Amino acid sequence: MRILVVGGAGYIGSHVAKSLLDEGMDVRVFDDLSTGQRINLFPKAEFVEGSILDKNALEKAMQGVDGVVHLAAKKAVGESMEHPELYAENNLIGAVNLLNAMVTQGVKYLVFSSSAAVYGMPQYPKLDENHPLNPINFYGFTKLEMERLMQWYDRLKGIKFVALRYFNAVGYDAGCNVRGLEKKPQNLLPVIMETLVGQRKEMFVFGDDYDTPDGTCIRDYIHVSDLADAHVRALRYLSAGNESQSLNLGTGRGNSVLEMIQTTERVLGKKVNYKMAPRRAGDPAVLMAVSDKATQLLHWTPKQSDLENIIRTTWQVYRLHYPNA
Ligand code: UFG
Repeated sequence: MRILVVGGAGYIGSHVAKSLLDEGMDVRVFDDLSTGQRINLFPKAEFVEGSILDKNALEKAMQGVDGVVHLAAKKAVGESMEHPELYAENNLIGAVNLLNAMVTQGVKYLVFSSSAAVYGMPQYPKLDENHPLNPINFYGFTKLEMERLMQWYDRLKGIKFVALRYFNAVGYDAGCNVRGLEKKPQNLLPVIMETLVGQRKEMFVFGDDYDTPDGTCIRDYIHVSDLADAHVRALRYLSAGNESQSLNLGTGRGNSVLEMIQTTERVLGKKVNYKMAPRRAGDPAVLMAVSDKATQLLHWTPKQSDLENIIRTTWQVYRLHYPNA
């Protein structure tokens, strides 16, 4: 199969490209390098520099491909509330361009990078795909709108899709094949790492008065290589003629912010300089996935998501950039 990975120079996209190449697929990466990085490109994959806002470039990149993985989206929750216009343009207009280019080029399979953010405030701690869809931030709204667009393009144009609703993506390829660090990360584990390497003087734990055992928020951390594996499986699932699906990807386990910090300290034998701070707006206390549907339909289970492996594989890449840390 020849697969176009849109956003394939980004953090998750490059891991997806690697898994597809490992499975012997032909990979073409399409990326505007706005957040993606050249260091994340693989010599074995063809690279086309372009934006999803450029319809002609997209159509051209789609020529001769059997399927598309779409990960080219803006993803900072806070920023989406301050600059919805950026998210509307990139995540919504970009998604429409992508679907239309698929129609023009007759490409029938799409794996889409969705998010647990489509659910909004959890009404119960472990979310399955039947949980109500009420995003509480504009980012989550754009992901949900794309899922709805895909349902219509499935009905009207026969494009089959799998929307993968990621929980908290963490970790790096164990073989250090992906080396790009995200610029100005806001997510917990990269923030912990930046504090350890001295890129930040200190970090803040946002809220210790939640209704959880240690008072800090609990999340379902899933290794990016496990996420990447699900994309390969989703493409196989679609090419076997199966129906479109939206599927959660998480471990079903949760770790608190303090557990993440303390486990990092234990595994790496280093102290993290952190302070307690007020709650961050829009953070639910607990967010965990039920991923039984992905297990059942894709025969997917997380294999690399134990916390120690997540921490070690992330640290490996930080050490490459900060050898004296
Ligand atoms: N946190 C801190 N300090 C920091 C950064 C984060 O205490 O410096 C806390 C947050 O308050 C939260 C937890 O760590 O309680 C995880 O925060 P992240 O920002 O790493 O992740 P989120 O759970 O907020 O969101 C992530 C992705 C979203 C996705 C969501 C799905 O960024 O795109 O997971 O679960 F929708």
